[in-house]
Amino acid sequence: MEAFSFHNPTKILFGKGQIPRLGKELQKDGIKRLLLIAGEGSIRRNGLYTAVLSSLSAAGISPIEGWGVSPNPRLDKVYELIFLARENEIDAVLGVGGGSVIDTAKAVAAGYYLEDIWSAFQGKATIQKALPIYSVLSLSGTGSEMNGNAVITNTDTQQKWGIGCRHLYPRLSILDPSYQSTLSFRQTASGAMDAIAHILEYFFADSRAKVTLAMNAAILKSIVEMTDRLQADGNDYEARANLAWASTMALNGMSEIGLIGGDWACHAIEHAFSALHPAIAHGEGLAVLFPAWIGFVSVRKPELFSAWAREVWDDLSINRSLHLFRQKLSQWGLPSSLRDLSIKEEELPRLVEIVFSCGATEIGGIYKLNQADLKSLLMLAF
Ligand code: NZQ
Ligand code: ZN
Repeated sequence: MEAFSFHNPTKILFGKGQIPRLGKELQKDGIKRLLLIAGEGSIRRNGLYTAVLSSLSAAGISPIEGWGVSPNPRLDKVYELIFLARENEIDAVLGVGGGSVIDTAKAVAAGYYLEDIWSAFQGKATIQKALPIYSVLSLSGTGSEMNGNAVITNTDTQQKWGIGCRHLYPRLSILDPSYQSTLSFRQTASGAMDAIAHILEYFFADSRAKVTLAMNAAILKSIVEMTDRLQADGNDYEARANLAWASTMALNGMSEIGLIGGDWACHAIEHAFSALHPAIAHGEGLAVLFPAWIGFVSVRKPELFSAWAREVWDDLSINRSLHLFRQKLSQWGLPSSLRDLSIKEEELPRLVEIVFSCGATEIGGIYKLNQADLKSLLMLAF
């Protein structure tokens, strides 16, 4: 097991009836001028916005509001919200929504103190501080509610890149899974696939950290079981709650403890899909890529995949396990090829270009993909 340091500062309030506590928590932290950041309206329709506002109002806080964050959130929106934040001299940000909203809130919180937040994404500036970040989650999958990462698209350069640092962990995140029953099954499954992918990015890395691997196998199995239950009944609260917590655990630092790191090639490649086609949901892109990646890498390094086959799919054959995995994603109605994502064959060279525009010559921690490998992988996924 590798040496590790672990510190996750995010306080979580989880379950029904927790949102009314938000105002008091902010009051306790001395927050007065708050910027509430939201998406394109789902939180108005499911009552979350009203619940949040009433809790804030009980604490005497009337927030400035910044709406319109899109899925695959954009840098121009981040700039607009930083401007709004500065104009109003706010002292904290609150994201109410899914991963896109929370990531935007994080970029605004850090960008408040930087000349140009994109320079942090490029690795040219370091985030030394950020405004305090709070979140109320409405869609489980990304884990953004309990980690220090944010992913934003620069539409001018077609780059969807990430930042990650200790200043970007929310101080507090509230998860009331009952507000997620307004998600379509497709959105639920896409979030579930994202959480599965977060575990898979670590799963094949290192077989020595037994506790982490056992926990990760349990998380994977729970995600599959809960998503099946939600496909049968979207109002199954216990399934929503368990899926929500599994998704948080999948990317809050616990799933990488004692490992040599993860792979993360599939994430880098999927981010290029959504950078090229903003209508592609992150989880749907991963549903196409991850099985293809497992197929590609398991032929070359089969020894990495036997624990996954055994522990998750109760099968000793990697091929049969991969088949079961694909079958499950297709049962959930997720796309299975680049064609299903409306990506055309002539766009593949541009995708490769976008992925490698970070300047690296290879991507992936446990299996290094060069440009030629990536082309072959994309053809497999086509
Ligand atoms: O915009 P609104 O109207 O709120 O609607 C959203 C959006 O259209 C809707 N929605 C959210 N909660 C709902 C709901 N609809 C009905 N009922 C609810 N309760 O769902 C749509 C998708 O929302 P979005 O926030 O885009 O989805 P998700 O949470 O999957 O976030 C995806 C983004 O997070 C990034 C992804 O790349 C992508 O940009 N990621 C962030 C990570 C992180 N910060 O750690 C890690 C991930 O790997 C990922 O890269
Ligand atoms: Zn992800």
